[in-house]
This record gives sequence, structure tokens and C-alpha cells, in this order.
Amino acid sequence: MLTLGVNIDHVATIRQARQANEPDPIAAAIMAELAGADGITAHLREDRRHIQDRDVRLLRETVATHLNLEMAATAEMVSIALSLKPDYVTLVPEKRTEVTTEGGLDVAGQLENLKKVVDRLQSAQIPVSLFIDADSAQIKAAQASTAQFIELHTGCYANASDPIKMAKELEHLHQGCLEASACGLRINAGHGLTYRNVYPVATLPGMEELNIGHSIISRSVLVGIDRAIREMKLAMRGE
Ligand code: PXP
Repeated sequence: MLTLGVNIDHVATIRQARQANEPDPIAAAIMAELAGADGITAHLREDRRHIQDRDVRLLRETVATHLNLEMAATAEMVSIALSLKPDYVTLVPEKRTEVTTEGGLDVAGQLENLKKVVDRLQSAQIPVSLFIDADSAQIKAAQASTAQFIELHTGCYANASDPIKMAKELEHLHQGCLEASACGLRINAGHGLTYRNVYPVATLPGMEELNIGHSIISRSVLVGIDRAIREMKLAMRGE
């Protein structure tokens, strides 16, 4: 069954805007789980712009579903992940100047390094997911890295400027799913998914988990996190 991983980074973004104690992403994670979130995702960025070290520590203690730690493939982050032991890690590219993750990882271009990172984490029983574009070369490289999962980058689909381009991007994701399944990779997806565009992605073959943040947290500000998550679960079912 398709699951929803709720990314709570932007609860921390609001807190960090004032360097204050609230809103607490830990409270948001607990409420998200009560509303039906199947997992909690947090991205500990190198610059600590939203999620802090304290947050991931407390999330590890409190999350009752599963915790997906998004991170860059750096020595610092690998060491944090090894001591934190999240339920899985999603490796993402990271640039200090970007507002949000801009594209998929170039797995093909840094296979040897990524292989080592994947091996260190998976040897410690932490499954690894690689955030990639649905390109053949990246999918094959993900398979070669021995990562158990990929997370297909849905940003191009989400940002498509017209329905024809959107359908083309959806087809690209569809082909990516077929290819990844044939390679034995398990498939998640995320980035830019909203209440309006989520359903076609939710029905892609082999899709296991969608990681969604900005759209849910935005709606939460207006209607509350409980309702926002329940409505996203409905949207994922096309209801
Ligand atoms: N998946 C990955 C790998 C991401 O980096 C992000 C953004 O942090 C998301 C999913 C969630 O994207 P959004 O906030 O646009 O839903």
C-alpha cells in the first residue's frame, strides 16, 4: 500500500525565522502521526537552516512510525546517521545557495563515493534511498550503488508549465518506475507534490512512499495539521 512520509522541515523553518522555540517540529511529527502519516521525514542540512541536531535526536526518540533522514552524502552526515540510526536515509544533493533541493543526485557521476556511503549505512542496517531524476543512467547507477531504494524527483512534473509538458514528465516518471522495478530497486517519490498533482504520481507502478512537505505544511497553517494530512491521504487515493 502506498504510504505518506510527511516532511516537517518547514515547521522548523517557521521556528528558525525567529530563532525561537516554537513551533516545535517534534509536536508536528506527533500530530502528523495521529492524523495518519505513515512516516516522518526531516532534512538535516549542512547549514542547519531549518531542522537542527536536537530535532533529529528527539524525532528518533519519539517517532512511532518510521523516520527518514534526508541528508547530503558527507562525512559529517554519515557519522550523524550512524549514531542516530534512522529507519532509512535519503541521500540528496545539497547546495548552500539553493532555496530547496534543485535536482536529483548525479549518482552516475560519483558512483564510487556514493557506493562507499551506501555501504557504510546499509552495513549498519540503515537502508539507503537515492534521490534521482528518472533517467536511465541514474537508475542503472543507483542499482550499481546497491542502494535499496530510489526516490524519484517529481519536481519537473510538478513545475511543468502546461498539461502537455506535465503528461510528458509523468510518462518519464512512469518509464523510470518500470526500469527501476526491473533493476530490483524499491521506489519512493517526492518534491513539489501538492493536493492537485499528487494522484497521478500515487498511481505509478511500484510506488511505495511519497515524501511531501511544503504543500502539507502550507495547508496546515490555515486549516491545521490534522486536517491537512487527512486531506492529503484522500488526495493520494484520488478522493
Ligand atoms: N523529497 C526530497 C528528497 C526533498 O529534498 C524534499 C524537499 O526537502 C521533498 C521530498 C519534499 O518536497 P516538498 O517540500 O516540495 O514537498
